[in-house]
Amino acid sequence: MKYGHFDDAAREYVITEPKTPYPWINYLGNHDFFTLISNTSGGYTFYKDAKFRRLTRYRYNNVPIDNGGKYFYIKDGDTIWNPGWKPVKTKLDSYSCRHGMSYTIVRGEKNSISAEALYFVPLHCRGEVQRVRLKNTGSVKKSLKLFSFIEWCLWNAEDDMTNFQRNFSTGEVEVKDSVIFHKTEYKERRNHFAFYSVNTPIKGFDTDREAFIGLYNGFENPDVVSDGKSKNTIAHGWSPVASHYLEIELNPGEEKDLIFVLGYIENEDDKKWESKGVINKEKAYQMISDFDSSEKVDRALAELRSYWDELLSKYVLSSADKKLDRMVNIWNQYQCMVTFNMSRSASYFESGIGRGMGFRDSNQDLIGFVHQVPDRAKERILDIAATQFENGSAYHQYQPLTKRGNDAIGGNFNDDPLWLILSTTAYIKETGDFSILDEMVPFDNDESKAKSHFEHLEASFYHIVNNLGPHNLPLIGRADWNDCLNLNCFSSNPNESFQTTENKKGGTAESVMIAGLFVLYGNEFVKLCEKIGKSDEAKTAQKHINDMIEAINQHGWDGNWFVRAYDFFGKKVGSDENEEGKIFIESQGFCTMAGIGAEDGRAKQALDSVKERLDCEYGIVLNNPAFTKYYIEYGEISTYPAGYKENAGIFCHNNPWIMIGETIIGRGDEAFNYYKKIAPSYLEDISDLHRTEPYVYAQMIAGKDAFKPGEAKNSWLTGTAAWNYYAITQYILGIQPDYDGLVIEPCIPKKWDGFKITRKFRGDTYHITVKNPAHVSKGVKTTELDGNALASNKIPIVEDGREHEVTIVLG
Ligand code: BGC
Repeated sequence: MKYGHFDDAAREYVITEPKTPYPWINYLGNHDFFTLISNTSGGYTFYKDAKFRRLTRYRYNNVPIDNGGKYFYIKDGDTIWNPGWKPVKTKLDSYSCRHGMSYTIVRGEKNSISAEALYFVPLHCRGEVQRVRLKNTGSVKKSLKLFSFIEWCLWNAEDDMTNFQRNFSTGEVEVKDSVIFHKTEYKERRNHFAFYSVNTPIKGFDTDREAFIGLYNGFENPDVVSDGKSKNTIAHGWSPVASHYLEIELNPGEEKDLIFVLGYIENEDDKKWESKGVINKEKAYQMISDFDSSEKVDRALAELRSYWDELLSKYVLSSADKKLDRMVNIWNQYQCMVTFNMSRSASYFESGIGRGMGFRDSNQDLIGFVHQVPDRAKERILDIAATQFENGSAYHQYQPLTKRGNDAIGGNFNDDPLWLILSTTAYIKETGDFSILDEMVPFDNDESKAKSHFEHLEASFYHIVNNLGPHNLPLIGRADWNDCLNLNCFSSNPNESFQTTENKKGGTAESVMIAGLFVLYGNEFVKLCEKIGKSDEAKTAQKHINDMIEAINQHGWDGNWFVRAYDFFGKKVGSDENEEGKIFIESQGFCTMAGIGAEDGRAKQALDSVKERLDCEYGIVLNNPAFTKYYIEYGEISTYPAGYKENAGIFCHNNPWIMIGETIIGRGDEAFNYYKKIAPSYLEDISDLHRTEPYVYAQMIAGKDAFKPGEAKNSWLTGTAAWNYYAITQYILGIQPDYDGLVIEPCIPKKWDGFKITRKFRGDTYHITVKNPAHVSKGVKTTELDGNALASNKIPIVEDGREHEVTIVLG
């Protein structure tokens, strides 16, 4: 069943039924001011950091779901309704929610009044603009009352949820004309306040939640709206809110726009006050005046649209499959930008107070957006590298506001360092900017320990070499990519987290996945060294890689697939010897991607085993058989019920590793079949089962052993976005940036006749036509650039700023 449809021309998903199987959300904001907004206007706003600079409050895990948002209440006679249906839930005559590229338009119609609320964060603005367009579509004059409503969060979202003994006494506001200012703690250590304005005189306002809603009411029946009159309250502690009250008359056919701005302001210390106790509002008035007319709003929206036109113009596919085109051209790239901005911090599954920017996660996210915003990618790489330790290991996360690493979600994940090689080499291949390697980057955020970025990569590489276990395979540390395979952590205490509990002393558990990762990105390190003339370094590194391949060959092959790991006791994990968890996806992915066993048939055999044991209708599960009891020596993984999350769930992040592995051995049909199973646009028709948004990937789909196979969770913030984008664009469609050109090596389903791609690369635009007359999956027969035959399938960098025609014939 569907709950809407794609509008590809507008790059929107149009939801036409408000009761979606789960709130279907969108993200507003592109730089440092962000909003999450659901299809019924739920969600919240923050500046830079969802934990430390939360502007508005949100209630997770509440009943009913999705409580708190940016609500407009319309009182038309005795009928009270919201354009987004919630929270009053009055039946609407029509409803739609258009989630577009960084904007959302929620539209409702009731009793001949149409109300359309546009929400977006203009570029370079620390504020959200909301335009409410009211229209009388009937034939009699209407007199309406409109109440806006948001609820302030007292800045630190975690403290806000817990520290009531203090917080119920700290809230402070000011109201001036049509602007409501939230200034809690401004008089002490904060230099920031927020405001909510409307561009017209108001009839009244409220800033005290209890007065607006009523102590025993909910968002669905606030006292003030039922009474049809605000109380002009000034909050003193308790829970400050902001609500404007407007009276509006509309003749038949008449339309009126109201513009609201929810903004964030920082003032320098000596400019905080206008007079004693009265905040300096100058910057707020500037922001308000930037958007005080519909023309200005239209202009800002047009700017935002062209920003996205530009971002999405860098890789444009035209194939015979519109579901594929809309993933590649619109939604997958969009999701990659969202993961760039959010990492794993704020979604409807991530509370914004738990996780910051992940070292591993953010490096991987980069391969999904580096072509869109290379400059920002560079900054991100350097920020991440600055949290690395001198020995190459890393904090697992850092806070976006402070850019400082912390170990709140554990540390010592031995795969972490290698992802820095992936992100850096992807950046250089995209841009040709080798200068990043010479940037001086601190270790552990300590400037006195700064070394060149190249030395950070070296530290990453050697962290593996210096931490090998009894089989000469990499020590796993707390865990590798699979956070839940905690092989050195034995926890029998339900009150401790697997991520932070003490590792067992002297743990020598090893990871075959890290071994594959090391070969793959170690090879990239070697290529890079060669490229920059460090041939001695390259040779030495190559030796370590060869040793690792040897160790995998000796100890990492189980007969039909790659072993996953060795546990604390030196026993195999992910082996036929095991009763459960005989085979895992990660080592099959990384070893085959690294080309291990490509020549002697083991790669094919490993991938066949994946097909046989891990594949199912909805994607590839992580392990099989699923764990049905708790294995203390495996850690968190076996705590999950069978079929969920890391215990045999379809962990969509790692499915592309198999897709890429399949392309390495030339099986385009298999690769694309796997792609289609988890790509959301192909799942739109089963939205009632899948539940999360049909326009973005979810982290996890319940696997074949689960109670409800096919049901997804954790949409939006997942490495799935970047990895699927990388797999489809670089390995299946096969357009791969390299240091000195664009390599074109598609691996597609045999029945495809071909496809076209426009790719902007290093200042030029390449119009690439791939033809497949012989109906093969892989193999480039001829390559032409601007009508001239080339000897290889690498398009050299022309760099003349022009358009170029490339024709590739497979065969
Ligand atoms: C984490 C990733 C991790 C994955 C698998 C995600 O929740 O953000 O860093 O690789 O889970 O455990």
